[in-house]
Amino acid sequence: MANQLPEEVIEEVRKANDIVDVIGEYVQLKKQGRNFFGLCPFHGENTPSFSVTQEKQIFHCFGCQKGGNVITFMMEIEGFSFYEALKFLADKSGTDLPESASSPQNSLTQENQRLLSAYEWLTKFYHHLLRHTKDGKEGYQYFRDRGLDEETIEAFQLGFAPNAKDFTKEFLDKKGFHQQLLIKAGLLSLQDDNSVSDRFRGRVIFPIRNHLGKTIGFGGRAIAGQEPKYLNSSESELFQKGKLLYNFDLAKKHIRKRSEVVLFEGYMDVIASYQAGVKNGVATMGTALTEMQAKLLRRYADRVIICYDGDSAGTEATVKAAELLRRTGSEVRVAVLEDDMDPDNFIQAYGAEAFQTQVIQASDAFIGFYIRHLKKDYNLSLEGERIKYIEAVLDQLAMIESPVEREYYLKELSNQYNITMETLTEEISSRRRKSGFHQHKSDRNRYTREYAGKPKTNKLLPAFQNAEKKLISYMLQDPYISDKVREELGAGFNMDEHQIIATRLYAHYEEGNSADVSLFIENLSDPHLRELVAEMAMTPLFEGISDKEVNDYIRIIRTQASASGSVRELKEQQRLAEQQQDPVKAAQIAMQIIELQKQLKNIN
Ligand code: UTP
Ligand code: MN
Repeated sequence: MANQLPEEVIEEVRKANDIVDVIGEYVQLKKQGRNFFGLCPFHGENTPSFSVTQEKQIFHCFGCQKGGNVITFMMEIEGFSFYEALKFLADKSGTDLPESASSPQNSLTQENQRLLSAYEWLTKFYHHLLRHTKDGKEGYQYFRDRGLDEETIEAFQLGFAPNAKDFTKEFLDKKGFHQQLLIKAGLLSLQDDNSVSDRFRGRVIFPIRNHLGKTIGFGGRAIAGQEPKYLNSSESELFQKGKLLYNFDLAKKHIRKRSEVVLFEGYMDVIASYQAGVKNGVATMGTALTEMQAKLLRRYADRVIICYDGDSAGTEATVKAAELLRRTGSEVRVAVLEDDMDPDNFIQAYGAEAFQTQVIQASDAFIGFYIRHLKKDYNLSLEGERIKYIEAVLDQLAMIESPVEREYYLKELSNQYNITMETLTEEISSRRRKSGFHQHKSDRNRYTREYAGKPKTNKLLPAFQNAEKKLISYMLQDPYISDKVREELGAGFNMDEHQIIATRLYAHYEEGNSADVSLFIENLSDPHLRELVAEMAMTPLFEGISDKEVNDYIRIIRTQASASGSVRELKEQQRLAEQQQDPVKAAQIAMQIIELQKQLKNIN
């Protein structure tokens, strides 16, 4: 990989960052045999084909073929340049990077880097004002009145933007930020008379952080009845509400630990719950849950508890979000609140303990909640309405993967409305057939051995390709096999890419390196080759391959090489014969070619 940093430094950073830990921050990994499996963060999937090995320090997705080591993972997932990935990992592990002579490439535009820096300054500035100054006193009092303690105010870096025309403007001016940029980001506003003034005025500030903990936007809440109640930063490349979840950076380790996330509607709900001990909470920011957010949550947790406002808008939003989350493969529960309450009000009224036990822990399976919720829409004393209701319930029950759970609700329906189980079961089957549900494996089968690291494509490959792949797989884990292959086969692989990999591998061992795939990958500049190597290194192999097996592979590869060489030669002779107007000879050669190709087919 092109870089100016000494190899030892790269090596040190790589060694200091275990790939399972690093990827574990993005994907919920489960151990399966020697490897870890999870849902691939690079393509949408419902059954895990993304695998990571601790032993080899590489990852590979059997679904989309992405693969590499810890550094290339960071480059892929964050869009980092090589240097940024290394810097990120070095910071994480507390390794020092030498000052690079040339200015490191940065994947962010200059404008976005400036904006990040402006947000960083402002977050500190607003927080400082709130905590320590007269100007911020009313903001501080506001939060204290809403029950937040010092620690929480600190944890969320809550702040206050004074009610002045150019408090922020002057602060940022002094720091040398361009006004144009700040106007575009919605930190300053352009007035009708073309003058520039602060946009957040007399509002308490909720810094909105991305998953890396960097502030990329503000939510500003009015404290004196101004409209709108919440003013947010403008949408931009950095701040995209549909991709972010409020508090995700702080919550993610709690989410992973419990494999459960609580989804709220508002900033204050997240913060009040956090203070009440529910630390795995996140929120959307005034918009409906998006597919992107649902997928993100799915990668981190099996279960989502939706805890929206108790009013009818909240209930409608709950149903919408739940449907999306279930489609994405999450188990959904619903924490129900009294009609006019939101989580924050509840905590204020009844306290942390009650919130944990009576709301969060008492959450319902989505389906139970939904069946009750649906009832409100139908007049069940009329037969026609009753049938419509039952059909709507069946639509939902058909989506349940677990047969046991389905049966549980079907029995209830059967008893309550006096319909036979047979009829209900038939209705469910036909719905599942129509929506293609029967093809899906049940949740419980998610992490079975069945697909644990079986490349689906291998069966379809001709024998020589398989032999080449297998052989390289063995060579990657054993320098002695590599040596033997080098002596007997050299660069005689049939596939160009295998030839390159083998040659590089001979060199890798010759330079005195060990069978360190992650390091080997590091030194390949072509991403396609890196992915191929990761794939081959992930192929499950038997311990202790025999000499005979190695010889067999070599023989298959050689036969292919010489046969295809002969075919090439014969074709050339055939062309000459045709040129010399010798149809008999040309026909004879054609026969030979067919014969050879037949043989080739047999060995394949
Ligand atoms: P709510 O109106 O439910 O407010 O909006 P809330 O969270 O209970 O706020 P408090 O308790 O009155 O302070 C839920 C979320 O919708 C977004 C915000 O993200 C808010 O947290 N919102 C709301 C806006 O973006 N703009 C608004 O004017 C109102
Ligand atoms: Mn509220």
